[in-house]
Amino acid sequence: MKKTALNILFIIVLNTFFLQIALSQEKSIAQRVDSVLNLMTLDEKIGQLNQYNDDWTATGPVTIDTSKARQIQSGKVGSLLNCMGTERTRSWQKIAMQSRLKIPLIFGQDVIHGYKTTFPIPLAESCSWDLEAIELSARISATEASASGINWTFAPMVDIARDPRWGRVMEGAGEDPYLASKIAYARVKGFQGNKLGETNSVMACAKHFAAYGAAIGGRDYNSVDMSDRLLLETYLPPFKAAVDAGVATFMNSFNDINGIPSTGNKYLQRDILKGKWKFGGFVVSDWGSIGEMINHGTVKNGYEAALSAITAGCDMDMESRSYINNLAQLVKNGKVPVALVDDAVKRILKKKFELGLFDDPFRFCNSEREQKELNNPDHPIAARDVARKSIVLLKNQNRLLPLSKEIRTIAFIGPLVKAVNQNKGFWDVEVPGVDSSYVVSQWEGLQRKVGNKVKLLYALGCSIEGDSKDGFGEAVNIAKQADVVILSIGERRDMTGEAKSRSNINIPGVQEELLKALLTTGKPIVVLINAGRPLVFNYTADNAPAILSTWWLGSEAGNAIADVLFGDYNPSAKLPITFPLSVGQIPIYYNHFNTGRPALSDDNRFYTSSYNDLSIWPKFEFGYGLSYTTFQYSNLHLSKKKLNYNDQIEVSVTIKNTGRYVGEEIVQLYLRDIVSSIARPVEELKDFKKLKLEAGQSETIKFIIDREKLSFYNQQLQWVAEPGEFDIMIGASSRDIRLKDSFELVE
Ligand code: BGC
Repeated sequence: MKKTALNILFIIVLNTFFLQIALSQEKSIAQRVDSVLNLMTLDEKIGQLNQYNDDWTATGPVTIDTSKARQIQSGKVGSLLNCMGTERTRSWQKIAMQSRLKIPLIFGQDVIHGYKTTFPIPLAESCSWDLEAIELSARISATEASASGINWTFAPMVDIARDPRWGRVMEGAGEDPYLASKIAYARVKGFQGNKLGETNSVMACAKHFAAYGAAIGGRDYNSVDMSDRLLLETYLPPFKAAVDAGVATFMNSFNDINGIPSTGNKYLQRDILKGKWKFGGFVVSDWGSIGEMINHGTVKNGYEAALSAITAGCDMDMESRSYINNLAQLVKNGKVPVALVDDAVKRILKKKFELGLFDDPFRFCNSEREQKELNNPDHPIAARDVARKSIVLLKNQNRLLPLSKEIRTIAFIGPLVKAVNQNKGFWDVEVPGVDSSYVVSQWEGLQRKVGNKVKLLYALGCSIEGDSKDGFGEAVNIAKQADVVILSIGERRDMTGEAKSRSNINIPGVQEELLKALLTTGKPIVVLINAGRPLVFNYTADNAPAILSTWWLGSEAGNAIADVLFGDYNPSAKLPITFPLSVGQIPIYYNHFNTGRPALSDDNRFYTSSYNDLSIWPKFEFGYGLSYTTFQYSNLHLSKKKLNYNDQIEVSVTIKNTGRYVGEEIVQLYLRDIVSSIARPVEELKDFKKLKLEAGQSETIKFIIDREKLSFYNQQLQWVAEPGEFDIMIGASSRDIRLKDSFELVE
């Protein structure tokens, strides 16, 4: 008995000794990881691959488990998600510090578009095409989250989405691989800051790997059927951009691709991500997605699911408990080489070292810093700036906007005028102990803007859904008393987001009928469309004189909208996703092929690739967005008309602000490969520049075209540029091409 106690004491002393050596800061991270790994039992290794939800909110089925603390104490958990605040994270971390090897926990959270300060939903923010503003919004989100105990965000979502029925379009950067890649890069840089290990950096997570946005029929979690070329050329580039930006982690996805669930997909995770792209971080499953492979029908039980996922390269199991329950047995049975487990553990430990958690497991648990950053006065200023930049001016007949300073009475009508939390959109974070009093509603924003100089009248009009028109009378009545009407309509914020697919993407309820009733007053009407996806609103688009797409703009929504209404900010945003004319056109996107019988206009549908009963054109195209001023494009000049393989062409174009307001223009460069060995899109965005011009000012901007911009995956899936002619188009949108030229690539 006495001897056993002595033995145990000896082992503890020895372990502590080795752990100290392991943690010695002198060593490189790789050496420190190895020395910790050497101390670990198989069960402790598998524990590092296990992630649990805290006992709070969840986006999937939670296993009720009162033994979490005990499991953490015995080294069976590597990370927790949905655990927020310095107090709460500190208390779990303390428990982890009671485990034999004292390996700290990582705390993950969906910080998708802000933590306390809520920024516009990612799709909205992407309308700004403003990479600096987007990076700053991620930077601030990371600063707040990291001050509140979080060290890992499950963002950015970089899924290309061409189907607005899919509720998760709101989380991404739209339909175009070039723009989405630039935005993915900026977001990763923003979240991770200068480097992991600074206390205001969090690990980013590129998700959902891969092609989750191509779910058939826009139904969430649905299957994906896709050619390798489309995958490589359209759906993977934003993920590659995230790797180039140094993203620390990846999340795989719920969908199967061509029958293989992404979670068990070796081609994606081992061959492409960890092989070809040399990704050194770790991959987490999506919520329960390892276990869900049983439903996919590709594995029989948790044992096979764990085998499939670890073999395919999925390192951490989010909430399916497949690893914790089966991996040890798989290793013992010789089905999984321990080297595979070791590789996954090393990847996770490496990040824990890089985050500095081994040096100080409580470095993200400073409550003073938490209070300071959650109340940092600079954050709402940045949120207001990017919110203004996210508002898209869709229509502005007779220059109704900006509103005249002469206006004396405004009728502000609609179910979203006085809403508060709606403005935060889906995937906002409910920070413990923080109420929503800091969110600026649209009503409050307008009130603050006009003070007592303008009389503001309010009516609800109708609700978002439902068919009651009882409020129409009052709304029409106040409209009659006003100089101008502002009508705020759209979706509820939880009509987009995860598991929020819709087959009908019209503006719900009787909201467009309310507009019809208000139009009978003859008053000028500005419509604000609040939504998380492109909606169909043809009546509004055809009849309202002015329309702003305000999406969900976050905690500064009211201020940002008021700034734009009164011209204190001149809208500059452009759509990163096509707005269809009807659900029947979906999927619709600008960079499609020409086909053998191209539909070039609605006047000639005779045996062309068109609908007999519907236009070929969307309501608002990719890249579209107006300004209060006008821009003239001229002097397109190419430095040469023949491009040698390793050479470049310098393209210059002059942009002039020909209107009365200072404004920003997003100048877009599209290319088309005229003849190639496989069909190529009719146009592809290959560059853009956002520039600010005073009224009357002009500037000449430059773009560079090189072979990379002309390359594509050929029939053998090799990345090549083929000699021949290319069209170059400079436009204010994908349809509004202002200047065109061509050049030749020669061998
Ligand atoms: C979502 C992920 C999210 C995870 C954790 C899942 O349901 O698909 O995007 O990060 O839940 O909340």
